[in-house]
Amino acid sequence: MNHRPIEGFSKLSKQKKIDWLISEYLSNDRSYEQILQQYWNNDAALQKMHDEFSENTISNFYMPYGIAPNFLIDGKLLALPMAIEESSVVAAASKAAKFWIDKGGFKTTIINTEKLGHTHFIFKTEAHKLLHFFNFKLKKKLLRTTEDITKNMRNRGGGILDIKLIDKTAELEDYYQLKASFDTVDSMGANFINSCLEQFGKTLKEEVAKEESFSQEEKDSFQIVMNILSNYTPECIVRAEVSCKIEDLKDESGISNEEFAWKFKQAVTIAEIEPYRATTHNKGIMNGVDAVVIATGNDFRATEACAHAYAARNGKYSSLTHCTTDNGIFRFWIDLPISVGVVGGLTNLHPLVKFSLALLGKPSAQELMSILAVSGLAQNFGALRSLVTTGIQKGHMKMHLFNILNQFGATEEEKQHFVTYFKDKTVSHHEVISELEKLRNK
Ligand code: MEV
Repeated sequence: MNHRPIEGFSKLSKQKKIDWLISEYLSNDRSYEQILQQYWNNDAALQKMHDEFSENTISNFYMPYGIAPNFLIDGKLLALPMAIEESSVVAAASKAAKFWIDKGGFKTTIINTEKLGHTHFIFKTEAHKLLHFFNFKLKKKLLRTTEDITKNMRNRGGGILDIKLIDKTAELEDYYQLKASFDTVDSMGANFINSCLEQFGKTLKEEVAKEESFSQEEKDSFQIVMNILSNYTPECIVRAEVSCKIEDLKDESGISNEEFAWKFKQAVTIAEIEPYRATTHNKGIMNGVDAVVIATGNDFRATEACAHAYAARNGKYSSLTHCTTDNGIFRFWIDLPISVGVVGGLTNLHPLVKFSLALLGKPSAQELMSILAVSGLAQNFGALRSLVTTGIQKGHMKMHLFNILNQFGATEEEKQHFVTYFKDKTVSHHEVISELEKLRNK
């Protein structure tokens, strides 16, 4: 069926939007309306708040919100809130947390907290003239004209750290940047950075127009292309690590400590040198990172983009974690560039985000960076531990069992039967279906 475009969809009421979708795309089947309505919140104010987070909202999309307890991070015992739909991520995190709790837990170091943004512009001029103008006139002006915007941030201990002129003409004709670094303290700072950058763009344009050392022809060539923060923040970075004696690396699978350490290190090294494996390896890390990023109301697309850009910083996509097994000591760590906030955005609005932050003891942005790096490291530890011992499917399918059973409308009694049935076996889709058939035909 060919569908018709619609004008003014955003102006329709929620009901009218649903009516239109049902008639245009869902063959007038009103049962679809039920699906949407069962996710509406009875609390009208809460529903309105969710509706207003985004545009054209017609329902809410739930994600499971789970807790991974027993995380000893820099001497503090935390329970991590994790919003994630994938079975076995929370279980793996909890298991890894428990493994490390009696070995000193996770230690973290904030390496730096600098965020970046650029004014990208085109200017057909001589680089040395532009540099002179930037150093002796423009830079001061850029700082002065953003004073109103930066005032509150400066009072909180942050602000603009530096502005540099970058000559990119070797890569793109006449292309230059103002590259600015920022400290946004406890906020992620996207709005603050973008406001500063847009002001930079205006000031730059005005100052170039006034500048006597540029000819009219040069001035006519000047164009601001855009002003925008960079989600790549390699200088906003945290390290999380665990270590213990190899003799303490006991795994329940029965593998020896030495073999476990050796295989684990090999697995990390393979992810360091092989991009196919690195992608899956880092995906597993981001299972842990994103779940806490989402639960704390942060932007997981930004943290994903940054982590993967960093993983490819040397020109070849590689592992975010590293491992050594020297002198009888197993050491495993992650360097994670990540820009997050604990004020602004959803943090003061979304009730579950408020809950998550309260649960974590109202962390600063730096403390949240540490927690996120630990969550990623723990997840990677859990995944590699399974991969080099029992294989991933045993734990994964155990957790996935309920998804399969729910698909077939299993009763509580049937579910109990399957928990016992698979106690010593690896769950498989095929096995669940055939056992369910047998059970139901009895
Ligand atoms: C699944 O979501 C993540 C893993 O594939 C990660 C990995 O292979 O390291 C288990």
